Amino acid sequence: MTQPAHDQLRQRADYTHSYNLKTGRHGWLRLTPAYSLRLVEEIMKQASSKVRVFDPFCGTATTALSAAYHGHDAATTDINPFLVWLARAKTARYSYATVSRTRKACEDALALVGAGEIDPAQVPPIHNIERWWHADALAFLGDLRAAIECTMPFQTQEGTLLCVAFCRTLIACSNAAFNHQSMSFKNSSQLTLGIQYEFKEIFRDNLEFVLRGALQNPTGEVETILHDARLLSRLKLEPFGLVITSPPYANRMSYIRELRPYMYWLGFLQKPQDAGELDWLAIGGTWGIATSRLNKWKPARNRCNSERLERTLDSISSPCNANGKLLANYIRKYVNDIYEHLAELRTILASGASIHYIVGNSTFYGELLPVELIYAQILDEIGFNNIEVRPIRKRNSKKELIEFDVSASWL
Ligand SMILES: C[S@@+](CC[C@H](N)C(=O)[O-])C[C@H]1O[C@@H](n2cnc3c(N)ncnc32)[C@H](O)[C@@H]1O
Repeated sequence: MTQPAHDQLRQRADYTHSYNLKTGRHGWLRLTPAYSLRLVEEIMKQASSKVRVFDPFCGTATTALSAAYHGHDAATTDINPFLVWLARAKTARYSYATVSRTRKACEDALALVGAGEIDPAQVPPIHNIERWWHADALAFLGDLRAAIECTMPFQTQEGTLLCVAFCRTLIACSNAAFNHQSMSFKNSSQLTLGIQYEFKEIFRDNLEFVLRGALQNPTGEVETILHDARLLSRLKLEPFGLVITSPPYANRMSYIRELRPYMYWLGFLQKPQDAGELDWLAIGGTWGIATSRLNKWKPARNRCNSERLERTLDSISSPCNANGKLLANYIRKYVNDIYEHLAELRTILASGASIHYIVGNSTFYGELLPVELIYAQILDEIGFNNIEVRPIRKRNSKKELIEFDVSASWL
């Protein structure tokens, strides 16, 4: 890939937002860390000729986007409808006409903001919402969301681009970002225009960023499907020659929890129970209702015959560990789910296909769960070949937490 093409990829990869908001206080996370893009790029470059690429755990579409900029066709699935929407937005092709219609719609929408002519959109039912946004930011976002909906239908390309810019804006206007983002008023005359003026400028700036990315059209085609990666044999798809994915980790991080603000504002979630239900469907989800269901969950059978795994689960579920039984169940379900997924993956692979799973290990009560070895063992059990485990990087200051590329081929 030439350098300009790489820059184009970067721009759309950063479509959602461009700064790290994992503050702990608010739970924002950076959706496409630069290292994961680099890693996907590195693996993608090894494909010498055109190949069909698949990512079963789409997330923010890093793999699909990279494949499409390299001229490959790709398909990707995710269980989260917001991420499917975002992936479609990021991998679509846009014309100059669409971009100028979107600019015009932006001004039409902004003219409605603060004019008192429309009902504001409902504020997300998030506990302590004022920790996320101050009242003036909430009022602006409620008006802007409603104004976008009045101006352009969500399903159109223009509506999509406006909503991507809205997602970036809602972070830029949040308490998490307020202190990072320069809310600097450029001169004293603008200062008198007030905070709403500044918010509108933030939206315009974010839209311009999104529109610059929109014009960087990839050459490959991407199909993004709302689907459960444990049921891949139900999809009628041409076989794939390359899989690059970063599956959910067994670390109790809830993607639904982290993405709630976007999902509520855009209407992908209506009430907190919906978030828990979706988390229960997600592999590795343990938030809200998912946690109580996990407590009662019993496997029909245990997958992955590993003595090491059994020993680890025994010591995690020891009565000395307050939530030991729950967490042992969590890991057991995670392993079973990944087993089902990998078994199903075989049905959509071309002969000779290579697969790359970027996985991170984790610890529970000081017990190291060697997730990379569990993947390698499952792949071996279900008939993959040339299995390799390559350490990639340390995840944080805890020296044992490492990310790996677990690769294999399907002959
Ligand atoms: C680690 S993230 C993927 C990150 C991605 N590589 C990126 O660049 O953003 C894991 C993804 O798996 C999705 N997921 C979880 N369970 C799933 C399932 N059963 N089927 C399909 N996707 C699932 C989550 O919604 C989440 O987007």
